[in-house]
Amino acid sequence: MRIYLAGVGGMLGEALHKVLGEKHELLCTDIDVNAPWLSYSDFRDFADYEKNFSRFEPEILMHIGAHTDLEYCERNPDDAYRTNTLSVNHAITLANAHGIPLVYISTAGIFDGTKALYDDWDQPNPLGVYARAKYMGEVEVLARANKHYIFRAGWMMGGGPAKDKKFISKLMKQLAAGATTLNIVDDKLGTPTYTIDFARTLGAMVETPYYGLYNMVCGGETGRLEVAEELIRLLKLESKVKINSVQSEYFSSEYFAPRPPCERLYNYKLKLRGMDLMRDWRVALKDYIATYYADHVKPFAPDYQP
Ligand SMILES: NC(=O)c1ccc[n+]([C@@H]2O[C@H](COP(=O)([O-])OP(=O)(O)OC[C@H]3O[C@@H](n4cnc5c(N)ncnc54)[C@H](OP(=O)(O)O)[C@@H]3O)[C@@H](O)[C@H]2O)c1
Repeated sequence: MRIYLAGVGGMLGEALHKVLGEKHELLCTDIDVNAPWLSYSDFRDFADYEKNFSRFEPEILMHIGAHTDLEYCERNPDDAYRTNTLSVNHAITLANAHGIPLVYISTAGIFDGTKALYDDWDQPNPLGVYARAKYMGEVEVLARANKHYIFRAGWMMGGGPAKDKKFISKLMKQLAAGATTLNIVDDKLGTPTYTIDFARTLGAMVETPYYGLYNMVCGGETGRLEVAEELIRLLKLESKVKINSVQSEYFSSEYFAPRPPCERLYNYKLKLRGMDLMRDWRVALKDYIATYYADHVKPFAPDYQP
C-alpha cells in the first residue's frame, strides 16, 4: 500500500516508520525533520498538506502528529486546537476527496477518570485543552470521514533516548543523572502503550475492512507507581534507587494541566474481533528497554541483563 504518514517525526512515528516500512511504500512528513526518511510539511497549512498528498497519491492517509505537551496546550489553546483539531479536518477533506481511508490517533486522556476502566463505547469527558482538542478530532473524524480508523493510545512508551519524551525517558534521565530517589505519583492510573505493538496492531487493522474507533493499549491494569517500580526491578536497581510515592499535588507547578486520575483502557472491540495484538505492559516494557535502552543504561545500571 502507498501510505502517507503526516506528523510522523515523533515517538510513535519512529515505530510506524519501522513497522509499516517493512511492507508498504511510505511518504513521511513532519515539521521536525529529524531523520533522512522525513520531509517537511506542516499539516496546519492545507495547501501544503494537499500538495504532498497529490504528489504521492496515497491509498491511505495516516494523520499522526499533534502537540503532545499538555502544559503547552493549556498555555496555548489556539495553537492546540489549530494543530490537534482543525488540521484533522484537513486530513478528512483530503481523504474524502480521494475516497481513501483516514487513520487518526486519539488518546486515553479524553476520559474524566471517574470510572476504573474504559471500553471503546464509554463516553469521553475531556478535562483539559489537550484532551479536548484530541477528542474534538475524534468527533470530527466520526462525523465526517467516510472511511476511518481511530486508534486510542494510552501512556506511550517508545522511540528510546532519541525520541521518547514521556514517562520512561523522564525516569531514565533522572537515573542517568545519578538519582537515588524517584518521586512517583501514586494517584494516576493508566495503561502503557508500546509504540511497536501499537504500530503492528495498527498495521494489521488497516488491512481489514473493520473501520471504526478502537482502544489500543497494552494489556493489564496499572499506574505510574507500579510502572516505575517495574522499571527499577528490570534494571536491577532495587538496592540503589528508592521510590518515594507522592500525590499529583507534589508536581502541580510543573504539571499543571488537568489529568484524569484514571485513564485505563480496555481493548474490548479489538478483543471481540480477535485482533488484539497488544502484549501485556510488563512484557512490552521489558522488550522496550532491551530494544532501545540496553546500551544507554550500562553506566548507571551495570547489572542489567536484556
Ligand atoms: N505520547 C503519548 O503518550 C500519547 C498518548 C496517546 C495518544 N498520543 C497521540 O499519538 C500521536 C503521536 O504522538 P507521539 O507520542 O508520537 O508525539 P510526539 O513524539 O510529540 O510526535 C508528534 C510529532 O508531530 C509533529 N507535529 C506537531 N505539529 C505538527 C504540524 N503542524 N505538522 C506536522 N507535524 C507536526 C511534532 O513536531 P514537533 O515536535 O516539532 O512539535 C512531532 O514530531 C499524537 O496524535 C498524540 O496525540 C500520544
